[in-house]
Amino acid sequence: MIELSGVFYSYDDEEVLRDINLTIREGERLVLLGINGSGKTTLLKILNALLFPQKGIYTYFGVRVEKGKLKDREFTKKFRKEVVLLFQNPDVMLFNPTVYDEMAFSLRQLGFGEREIRERVLYWADRFGLLPYLDRTPFRLSGGQKQKLCLACLLVLEPKVLLLDEPTANLDPKTTGWLVDFLYDLKVTTLVSTHNLSLAPELGDRLIVLGEDHTLIYDGRVEEFLKDEDKMLKAGLLHRHRHKHGDKEHSHYHLHDHL
Ligand SMILES: Nc1ncnc2c1ncn2[C@@H]1O[C@H](COP(=O)(O)OP(=O)(O)OP(=O)(O)O)[C@@H](O)[C@H]1O
Ligand SMILES: [Mg+2]
Repeated sequence: MIELSGVFYSYDDEEVLRDINLTIREGERLVLLGINGSGKTTLLKILNALLFPQKGIYTYFGVRVEKGKLKDREFTKKFRKEVVLLFQNPDVMLFNPTVYDEMAFSLRQLGFGEREIRERVLYWADRFGLLPYLDRTPFRLSGGQKQKLCLACLLVLEPKVLLLDEPTANLDPKTTGWLVDFLYDLKVTTLVSTHNLSLAPELGDRLIVLGEDHTLIYDGRVEEFLKDEDKMLKAGLLHRHRHKHGDKEHSHYHLHDHL
């Protein structure tokens, strides 16, 4: 359904994506791993057509996604409904007076009737535990509740592709567990970025890894990558540290993993 072929992207002179080739089939659950600055957010923004490849091609169900194509209103409406992105900082997504309006916003934009909007909002608010807060201003929610609200705002659209940019970064372990289970049960194509190696196997079964050189250095099963020290070193996810224990110094590999 999604194909990137020879995609490059630079901000000014800084190349942040280099020759990315990627095919995603419907129903796949992908994890995107890479250290800070490797280009994860940029890649997700390209898939969400917020940025466009400067070289290379992005196609969605065989249709080339480029700036000019978004002038085609029929296509844009379909694309915006089907491919959605949860931002790394969800606060930037919230601007409506109430939780209800927030969840109804994009459905209204896309021309849904109030009755269907109400049905969808109530259904997803219930699944996300947001029913008690429908009249509250989104700013008076906790960080985790805001994150859930942002995700609910995307799911009311019943998308085909859900892109999530470090969704667990601000969640406590319990809410992280909830999200992992929730995503597991969701029958939608997902691509979740994280720099947390230990969460990767929980978030998907196919792993793609952006290296420090901004190329895709791995595309395969999560478990295989976790056995490949060379690849992990290349990704900057593993580091050799020296430690002193008493008067003995030794060095060993250390996972760069922060929960
Ligand atoms: N709007 C921008 N203008 C200029 N440079 C940018 C912009 N956005 C990102 N960059 C640079 O591009 C590189 C890749 O950024 P990106 O946000 O895609 O990385 P990331 O893998 O998502 O990092 P993180 O794990 O910190 O979220 C970084 O060096 C960053 O400084
Ligand atoms: Mg990022």
